[in-house]
Amino acid sequence: MSAAEIGLIGLGTMGAMLALNIADNGFSVAVHNRTAARIPEFLDKAGDLAERITGHAELEDFVKGLACPRNIILMVPAGDAVDAQIEQLRPLLDSDDMIIDAGNANFQDSERRATTSEEAGVPFLGIGVSGGAEGARFGPSIMGGGTPEAWVRVAHILKAISAKYQGQPCATYMGAGGAGHFVKTVHNGIEYADMQLIAEAYGVMRDGMGMDASACGAVFDRWNDGLLQSYLIEISGKVSAATDPETGNPMLDMILDRAGQKGTGRWTVIESQMLGAPVPVIEAAVVARNLSAQRDLRLAGAEAFGPTGGAMAKGTLTFDDLEQALIAGKVLCYAQGFELLTKASAEYDWDLPMAEIAEVWREGCIIRSAMLNDMASALTDAPARNLALAPYFADILRKNMAGLRKVAVVAMGAGQPVPALASALNYFDTLTSARTTANMLQAQRDYFGAHSFERTDKEGDHHGPWLDQHLQG
Ligand code: 6PG
Repeated sequence: MSAAEIGLIGLGTMGAMLALNIADNGFSVAVHNRTAARIPEFLDKAGDLAERITGHAELEDFVKGLACPRNIILMVPAGDAVDAQIEQLRPLLDSDDMIIDAGNANFQDSERRATTSEEAGVPFLGIGVSGGAEGARFGPSIMGGGTPEAWVRVAHILKAISAKYQGQPCATYMGAGGAGHFVKTVHNGIEYADMQLIAEAYGVMRDGMGMDASACGAVFDRWNDGLLQSYLIEISGKVSAATDPETGNPMLDMILDRAGQKGTGRWTVIESQMLGAPVPVIEAAVVARNLSAQRDLRLAGAEAFGPTGGAMAKGTLTFDDLEQALIAGKVLCYAQGFELLTKASAEYDWDLPMAEIAEVWREGCIIRSAMLNDMASALTDAPARNLALAPYFADILRKNMAGLRKVAVVAMGAGQPVPALASALNYFDTLTSARTTANMLQAQRDYFGAHSFERTDKEGDHHGPWLDQHLQG
């Protein structure tokens, strides 16, 4: 067999699916996996596509089996495993061979790897890949970071294997160094928030309205025909309708309420705090996952204080209220995510293509939704404007905020936790406050630390009348 056009290391679920996708799009691909036994198993399952795939148990043979200059995709667990793989691989490569990290890397790691590669004069690309296993196999959304030359080298392959939105590939170059992985991280932060908002709406239906899982599913299905149309609403309908084959109960009722996470949501929040670009709905979603994981504490709390329950009198909330709450919450959490991207773009000198980010998320990725196309239009008009202030979305908020306010207030009154919905409401109320209470904070800071404040009536740094009095005792 002649030398393969591209190489891929790591035949876990995502790597295996990506390799099949590459072969399915007519490219020859060489694969390698640390546990060599996985390679023949993978080739067996590849069917006809195996004709374009060569497996190599030895890393040296894998490298020799690639056309030069080599392009090698790593699909290994993010973190130390990536560094270990690069360390093993680099001595076997020529200086123009490129390593492409396609895992869910922390963008700080991608920045470091990009810098190290640049210093060594070797090309490196970090790509965020979204869409889960199905996306990897049939068309993910791809966010690239590195030098433009590194991107151009493999863009034809990445675009070919990516999802298509009305024929347009969902694979885009985002910027230098860790830009691609940063955009993917924010994607995941929004994913956490969107999922949490939906879970809270489910909670209101289950505990507040006393609905069973399949009835909740039917509501999600209906919403999927409206403004909320999205992959996450669609699968929420499907998981709500599913039955547990072992017990015959609704599958959802058999799943323990303890959420897992791999860290990308947390990274989004950490970065937002570092950049002073708050993403409170995403933060609420991460906190909700953390608290869900503390099940023993929650059980002890329920025993000590009695469960709060969340039951609501019939007719207190309508499905329209809930739909409105989700629509407004969704717009506000995306507005926060894009604000964070705007701030990061300036801080890291990335010049992120804001409208293209929304475009690349329209298909293939987990947060794909009808609304993203309108977000792309709004960001084309004004890339740095908060989405909540774009006329189209401001109008949506005007029409739907009443529902968000009602649902958050009623749910909290009934003792039903709705942290993401409440956080979206507080964000909106703060965003629309011409006068906040931060004057009190400034006065306190000046009182105890002489930190000074700005005045409402003149320029400059000022102090209150209290300094002389209390510091001189
Ligand atoms: C995607 C997803 C994916 C992520 C999983 C699990 O875009 O395809 O974001 O990359 O790893 O959804 O993430 P958590 O384990 O953190 O929920």
